[in-house]
Amino acid sequence: MNNNNVVEISDNIFFIGVFDSEIRTFDIIMKTANGSSYNAYLIKTSEGIIVVDGVKIEFQEEYFRKLEQLCQYDEIKYVISHHLEPDHAGSIPELIKRCTSAKVLVSPQAANMLKALVKSESINFETVWTNKSITLGEKTVQFLTTPYLHWPETMSSYVVENKLLFSGDVFGSHYCDERLFEEQVGDFSYAFSYYYDHIMRPFKSYVQNAIKLYEKLTIDLIAPLHGPILNHHPQKYIQLYKKYSEPTHKSHKVLSIFYLTSYKNTRNMAQKIYEGCESVEGIVANVYDLASLDEQNMIKILDESDGILIGTPTINGDAPKPVWDLLCCMMFLEKKGKIAQAFGSYGWSGEAIDMIIDRLKFLHFKVPPMNLLKIKLIPTKEELQECFDFGVEFCEILNGKMIEITMTSNN
Ligand code: FEO
Repeated sequence: MNNNNVVEISDNIFFIGVFDSEIRTFDIIMKTANGSSYNAYLIKTSEGIIVVDGVKIEFQEEYFRKLEQLCQYDEIKYVISHHLEPDHAGSIPELIKRCTSAKVLVSPQAANMLKALVKSESINFETVWTNKSITLGEKTVQFLTTPYLHWPETMSSYVVENKLLFSGDVFGSHYCDERLFEEQVGDFSYAFSYYYDHIMRPFKSYVQNAIKLYEKLTIDLIAPLHGPILNHHPQKYIQLYKKYSEPTHKSHKVLSIFYLTSYKNTRNMAQKIYEGCESVEGIVANVYDLASLDEQNMIKILDESDGILIGTPTINGDAPKPVWDLLCCMMFLEKKGKIAQAFGSYGWSGEAIDMIIDRLKFLHFKVPPMNLLKIKLIPTKEELQECFDFGVEFCEILNGKMIEITMTSNN
């Protein structure tokens, strides 16, 4: 698609973004069934122009054509860059070259990244954060510090006169529809929640912080960096993010025991561990065979788990693929507060258990320093008792016992 029309989305605020209907995988990890859009905006005032974000470099000529319909480059006073990932910052170096008198506004965390992106130390830029604002002509833009949504440097901003929130990637959808506005496009609800799950879910606590800032504002319209502009029920989307990110209040801890087994030895260990876990008050344990668990269910179960135990055999000196698939899913999770360990039966060397424990530590799970539960071949009665005791000890730690001493010494 190549739509050169600019669209006024609010009084003197224009959409100058582009539609990428061909993209089918985004950031390697996300499916984009009908493409995406790289949204960018332009604010017109009597004293000059504010450009809000850029687009992927492959689309920059289309972006510049749209921009040129609305202004001359020397009219641009500010360029606001909410997020420096290449899908939005690809066109920023060329934009800076073209509008030499404009000042670039980024978060403090973005400063070094901006220099690296432009390959220059002499950029006319200023850093902005919550409570800072700029006024140009009739428009006042207030900045909001919203880090880790989903990169360290991400921020949002709010145009006071239009009650318009530029949310960055927050509230985005990989959904390509040139009708652009929420009430005119097709049903994008699946894309909205899928986007949250894959981009924002690992940063739930930061989502909660951002929502606290957004809730102080009167918002008539949300202009995100991807997908439809939310002009009909913007509050609905804020409430959805609130719901997605709020902690679940449970009267018990959820423990998930995942295992993979060749000869039922690791499975029998998992079963005994489960029995040990279930004997501890305040724990609800469940056991899952990784051979029959698809990725979406893995993510859902992991997300809801307070404690995670992974049982793996060792095959050719490694953990088998379904175990690594489970670990790959963890990139979509907030690991804060989650406790994990590994166990398994092995024939020759048993490295897989150590590998999984190392990986859990790298992923910033809390890994309590318990005795390694590695059993050669078929577990004996005594070894099954060790499994039971392992489950009890892990769940006591999950319940908070001994946790302060053991965790800090290990992580
Ligand atoms: Fe849409 Fe994080 O870039």
